[in-house]
Formats: sequence, C-alpha cells, structure tokens
Amino acid sequence: MKLIQVEDYQDMGKKAAEIILDRVRNTENIVLGLATGGTPISTYENIVQDHQTNGTSYQHVTSFNLDEYIGVRPDHPNSYHTFMYKHLFHHINIPQEKIFLPNGMAEQQQECRDYEQRIREHGGIDLQVLGIGENGHIGFNEPGTAFDSTTHVVDLAESTRQANARFFESMEDVPKQAITMGIGSILRSKEILLLIAGEAKSKALAKLLDKQVDEQFPASALHHHANVTVIADKAALQTQMSTHH
Ligand code: GLP
Repeated sequence: MKLIQVEDYQDMGKKAAEIILDRVRNTENIVLGLATGGTPISTYENIVQDHQTNGTSYQHVTSFNLDEYIGVRPDHPNSYHTFMYKHLFHHINIPQEKIFLPNGMAEQQQECRDYEQRIREHGGIDLQVLGIGENGHIGFNEPGTAFDSTTHVVDLAESTRQANARFFESMEDVPKQAITMGIGSILRSKEILLLIAGEAKSKALAKLLDKQVDEQFPASALHHHANVTVIADKAALQTQMSTHH
C-alpha cells in the first residue's frame, strides 16, 4: 500500500485526477470503477476542468459505479446516478452506453448477478476509485462483510445513514438499503485509488495504516491487494502526525 500525503482536500483532488488522467490517456478501452460521496467531488472537478482545457477524451472509457440506493429512481435528485451525471458524466464525452451503475429499482438478486456479469464482460476494472466510511466501509460494504463478497444488497448501518443524511431532506428520506459491489469485486480491480480527507476520517485512516486485517474493518481487505495507492490529506493524517512526532 502506497501512501501519498497531500496538504488538503483540494490537493487530494488534483493528485487523484492526475493519476486517473494518466491511466485514461495511456490505457486502451479503460474500465474505471467510480465512487460517490463528498470525497471524490474535488477529483471530478479537476477531471472536468482538464477536459475543458486540454480536451482529454473519454470515448474509450467505460465506468462502473460502486453502489446505488435501493428504491431510489435513477432520476431522483439523491440517486447516485444523478450525482455522477451532475459531477462528472454531463461534463465529459464518455459515451452514455458505457456508463454503468447498479439499478436500485430492478429486481434485486437478478440485478446483483447482472452487474457482476457486466463487469466481467468488460474485462474487469482497471482502476477503482474509493472513498472510506468513518467505520471503514468501502462502497457500502459495512463491517462484517465477507472479503470474497460480490455485488449484493446491504442494509445500511445507522451511522452510515446519519452520515449521508446531509444529502436528504430528513432522516426518514435516507434509504435503508443499497446495492453495492462486494469487497471481492473491488479486490479484483487491477489498481485501487483510495481517497481520504478530513478529520472525521482520521480514526479510520489510522486503523487502516495499522495494517491489521479484520472483517470488522472492511477497508483492511485492501492489504490483500498488490496495487493500492492511498491519497490522504493532513487533517486525516493528524493522528499519525501526533503519534509519530
Ligand atoms: C458513502 C458511500 C461510499 C463513500 C463513503 C464516504 O456512504 N457509499 O462509497 O466512500 O460513504 O462518503 P464521503 O465521501 O461523503 O465521506
């Protein structure tokens, strides 16, 4: 696991975009795994800005998102579909037919199997972008999820619902379930880029850097992967700094 330290959230976005752009420019028919949440927004902003100024093309890019809420229509303002189009897809030239997100309105078990199948048909994910939950979740894989899990339906932890409540009108509006790529699906990506910013994530980052592998801390599965880069800002790294200096 390689750690890149950056100053702040904005710098994380620049650094992450630099790595993603390098892979996009140098990989034929690249398959990206993308994430939602507050964390990757500055990354997507940098990608959009580069597309506008340098014209980097996304015609050859396929993308699979990590997760989607169940019972939320794709065109709902709080769906992850809407999020991705708003922050990225509307602003770059990725072909519509190469964009994949789980469908939260489809028959769930079938959709999980189909999603996994579609990823395989595209040759797997070349570069997976990840955020992390305060409890160490990746995608929506909550503590206790098997490390060999494939795309599946999850009941969201109460803490995850609360953390995401800021995007909804009220707590009752926050969905209780989601479809997420499994930890096994994530680990099959050829390369993983994990983004961690802000003080709220410092405990999770400290735990990750502790290198103990434990199913109660989903992100620790990444220690089983040979090509993971973590980009972390100072605020997230503060626990490390105070213990090591
Ligand atoms: C959400 C998403 C995850 C995301 C994480 C952190 O629930 N399902 O994919 O990485 O929680 O979110 P944020 O980046 O907003 O802190």
